[in-house]
Amino acid sequence: IPSKEPVAAGDILVFATGPKAEQEITLDDLRAAQGEKIPFIIAFPKSPENVVKKDLITNTIMVILADPAKMSPETKQYASPEGVLAYSAVCKHLGCTVSQWQNDTWLCPCHGGKYDIYNQAKVVGGPVPAPVPQLPIKVEGGKVVVAGEFLGKPGVDV
Ligand code: FES
Repeated sequence: IPSKEPVAAGDILVFATGPKAEQEITLDDLRAAQGEKIPFIIAFPKSPENVVKKDLITNTIMVILADPAKMSPETKQYASPEGVLAYSAVCKHLGCTVSQWQNDTWLCPCHGGKYDIYNQAKVVGGPVPAPVPQLPIKVEGGKVVVAGEFLGKPGVDV
């Protein structure tokens, strides 16, 4: 089933939810999000064949435009030069979508897991056993394009 294929290099990120659901995320969308309470966008990958791969839970992705000066070298290496950064949004604790933001920290609403987006999603709070994997990103023609596979296994370890 094409909509259940895992995210792959060359996929384009689209909005997962909201009024722009399944529309391609642009650099302008990410810039606009920067000033908001939630400065990131939850995304799904869309294949070159235009299939939105939304039926695989581990394809839930968070994408953000962040300050490259704050990123660790490893993090920056897999971000775009503009500072577009993406991670698996499936919490490593029990699989909730990591959907909140507090004091410049990415926060899981279920049990308060906290991740440092500037440092490869290092766990900085809560019961989370491991970081979520980063997803290599590039920007092409203002669109957010996946540049490689997740740098680790997404989803809850079973
Ligand atoms: Fe995220 Fe428990 S599922 S902290």
